[in-house]
Amino acid sequence: MMGPPGAGKGTQGEILERSLGVPRFATGDILRHARREGTKMGREAQRFMDAGELVPDEVILGIIGEALQGDKARDGFVLDGFPRTVAQAEGLGRILDELGIRLDAVLNISVEDDEIVHRLSSRLVCSSCGIALAHDGQSDASCPVCGGTLVQRRDDDAETVRHRLIVYRERTEPVLTWYRAAGARVVDVDGLGSVEEIRDRVRAGIGI
Ligand code: AP5
Repeated sequence: MMGPPGAGKGTQGEILERSLGVPRFATGDILRHARREGTKMGREAQRFMDAGELVPDEVILGIIGEALQGDKARDGFVLDGFPRTVAQAEGLGRILDELGIRLDAVLNISVEDDEIVHRLSSRLVCSSCGIALAHDGQSDASCPVCGGTLVQRRDDDAETVRHRLIVYRERTEPVLTWYRAAGARVVDVDGLGSVEEIRDRVRAGIGI
């Protein structure tokens, strides 16, 4: 699943994960989990994430290589927010070749920049369990799952979001060009509309 920050990859990825009955590996979620756990990888990734920069390719390829070799991934999987550079796409190709797995589709969700800034500046996440929620105007609300404190994601302030969009255009959009040139099945989905409308477009696009 590809698309700019805030395009709805996570939202649609969760729906796809449930409807296909396969695991979803979201590199952003894995990195944030590592950061909350205080692991070495999480601490090293933090400065890149907070600045809206990409975490180095070798770290990301290590995460994905490990995830895809596990039993969980045997019957298929959804990759969310990966690959984000041409080097990651090439690395993924090598991992899939080694495992004898075929890439079915590259799903590309697009949303215009102003909508993205609006969506991300009104998102809150739980500082304990990481769940994301739409802002309902109650700044003192607590997490409905674990009771933790709700905060803005560190990289969701307008300035960092604008920088993430620049990074997306410079480093991730070329991945789509690379996949198209390689003859991969790229499914383009308009990400503007209700979550249900986009869910239906995704399903129609990939044919499920
Ligand atoms: P990551 O967590 O992947 O962030 P992102 O790609 O910037 O995406 P987001 O999580 O912000 O948005 P999303 O597209 O998943 O949208 P969502 O469904 O949440 O990565 C964070 C950082 O980690 C990166 O900047 C980088 O540093 C690092 N990283 C991760 N992967 C990496 C990689 N492969 N290589 C290198 N570094 C990597 O929706 C957003 C909001 O909109 C939510 O509030 C949601 O409720 C709302 N929303 C969803 N759908 C709709 C809709 N249809 N209408 C209105 N609102 C909607």
